[in-house]
Amino acid sequence: MMFILFSLFFLFFFIYYFKSGKLNKVPVKNICNVCLKPSKNKCTNCNQIYYCSKKCQKKDWKEHRKVCGTVGTELIIPTSSSSSEMREFISDLISDDVVENFNVPDFEQEYAIKYPHEKMHIQFLNSAQSSIEYLQLIGRFIDHDPDEPDPKYIMNRWNEFSEVLINFLTTPRKIGDIFTGKMKSQYLGGKDVAAQSFSSMSKLSLTYDQGKVHIAVGFVDLDLLLQAEITQNMNFIEQPNKFIGYEGSVYAVAKTNVIKEMMVKKVPIRSIIEVWFSSVWTMETLKYFEKAVKSVLQFGDAPNDGPPNPTKKELHPKVRSLISHWNKSIRSPKSHQEAHKLWTKTFISEDNVFFIVANLVEPRDRVQVARHILTGEFPLMDDQPPKNLIASITMFNCNNGILPHSSNEFMLQMMPMDTILSKNQRKEISFLNAIYNFLENAIIKVCNWLSPLEGQAGKIEIYLHFQPVTNDNSALLVSIRQLDPWIMSWSNICDYFYVHDFHKMLRACSGNDTIHIMTSIDWFKEVFGAHIMEYDGRVRHGMLIDAQKKISMAEKVVDPSGYFQYTNVISHPYNIGDISAMMMVKENWQNYFFKDQDLNIGDFSFIPYAHTHKTHTLLNICYTYNKKD
Ligand SMILES: C[S@@+](CC[C@H](N)C(=O)[O-])C[C@H]1O[C@@H](n2cnc3c(N)ncnc32)[C@H](O)[C@@H]1O
Ligand SMILES: *[C@@H]1O[C@H](CO)[C@@H](O)[C@H](O)[C@H]1NC(C)=O
Ligand SMILES: *[C@@H]1O[C@H](CO)[C@@H](O)[C@H](O)[C@H]1NC(C)=O
Repeated sequence: MMFILFSLFFLFFFIYYFKSGKLNKVPVKNICNVCLKPSKNKCTNCNQIYYCSKKCQKKDWKEHRKVCGTVGTELIIPTSSSSSEMREFISDLISDDVVENFNVPDFEQEYAIKYPHEKMHIQFLNSAQSSIEYLQLIGRFIDHDPDEPDPKYIMNRWNEFSEVLINFLTTPRKIGDIFTGKMKSQYLGGKDVAAQSFSSMSKLSLTYDQGKVHIAVGFVDLDLLLQAEITQNMNFIEQPNKFIGYEGSVYAVAKTNVIKEMMVKKVPIRSIIEVWFSSVWTMETLKYFEKAVKSVLQFGDAPNDGPPNPTKKELHPKVRSLISHWNKSIRSPKSHQEAHKLWTKTFISEDNVFFIVANLVEPRDRVQVARHILTGEFPLMDDQPPKNLIASITMFNCNNGILPHSSNEFMLQMMPMDTILSKNQRKEISFLNAIYNFLENAIIKVCNWLSPLEGQAGKIEIYLHFQPVTNDNSALLVSIRQLDPWIMSWSNICDYFYVHDFHKMLRACSGNDTIHIMTSIDWFKEVFGAHIMEYDGRVRHGMLIDAQKKISMAEKVVDPSGYFQYTNVISHPYNIGDISAMMMVKENWQNYFFKDQDLNIGDFSFIPYAHTHKTHTLLNICYTYNKKD
């Protein structure tokens, strides 16, 4: 199924790109131009001539190329054949002057050598590899405009296809104009149908003054602490820092409470890492998990309605229900084979996570990261005896329809590449080990904060509550305000609110000088000109080159030993092009977001490029409100 989706997705792209353009009109027949057999497949360049097979198309190519449009590259996309055939076909065509080489490493082959029996995986990688190759073609036709707007493209670009939007797009407008009619809806659907297993964005490193309060709204997991530091300033408070989380996801609260308890108990770090990230656990991990679960279930009851006591260890009934379910499942975990199967089911067609693999320099790393993506194992469990392995309880044994890892998340997306890569040597440390070592050290640090030795400087207490933070929940907003938070982090919750409502909510819970930090993922869905295709066709190639240059500059700073390649980044050309586009309109959105607000802006900048990010247009935002009273 995945493969078919993959193919369909790219088929769409090709039709979209090649259908457009002013092509020579040639007679249309529904039979193969060579052998005259009935045929469903057309040359996708001119979309006019039918061929029954790639063989026939190739035979006819010398003749047909003379009449086949002006676009330059000709391909059949066989509507119903497997992608390996497609790939073979494309590589046949690539041979001569038609297109230069794609430059995509053969990670399918590399994987097949290491894991020859994983037929499904190999087939999947084959399909992923061809998809990546096809996508490279889009860059070549970036200057072309489609004749008619394509609904699917508009959905991807704006995340809606409404009358208001069409109105906006069809009336005169210029680069930087804000689409003020954007539809917003709350993230919280009530049910955790697509719960996040872990954070999906890399975070800033924070420095906490000792004794201060951090309120983490929509925390998902504890990744904010991985890079944090606690310092003692001149007049520090002789008290632990308080990290108080409010989440609308039952799953995130349940899982993170268990992980925190494992940290408090200082269980082996490997087990904490497995519970946090891995689809497959070792038996030892199950043992430590069980202990942590039992002790979390000793927490008191939080009120069913209304805000909890912020600094008490309490469980909301819904959270307790999930953790109790995990407790019951410990006796009968699923097998690790089943974990692999269930994990793969969550892939969807647009999955472009394999760009990460394609841009890695060492074949060693490509194979390991592909393995990680395909199995969800972290660390890889190749060295473990199979009978020592089970499926993650938190990932595959949830109740009430809670479905973690169903939204294409990968742990690599949240990893702070600048911190990790600059400290390691590619030749000596594999990419996955570099990440593992980072996590290990970071988690040891947090464990020590949680169970400090006598007289130790950095201390922290962590309280995690199930509680939506909204304008309707005014009792909670008041209770947050009373804590006079030093920092409040908001994940990307600003994306789900109308600007006015968002500021209203934040003001209602701000203390005297509360610093608000957040990331916007969706800001560019509100600005015309944040996408490369909204610029004149003649400047788009230049924009791509420009963006590529910007990425290349990141290399020396972020990745001195060259884990990744930066000169010819393999990605969707839109992803690259948007890096140029977003620079042009950032200020427009900033003005819109802060309009009529009395505040001090600390930061409003793009998260620096990393190959592991899901998208490359994330904005870090940080400010304080000036209070009128
Ligand atoms: C904002 S979502 C981000 C989802 C995803 N990363 C994305 O790409 O958009 C992150 C977390 O915030 C939580 N969340 C969303 N709105 C919330 C709110 N009003 N109060 C508390 N948590 C909220 C969600 O449950 C989720 O776990
Ligand atoms: C956990 O589950 C076991 C058996 O499955 C049960 O006996 C025990 O009471 C449960 N513990 C808690 C704290 O709910
Ligand atoms: C905030 O500042 C006001 C006036 O400067 C002060 O009276 C109040 O106690 C402060 N609030 C907190 C929670 O520190």
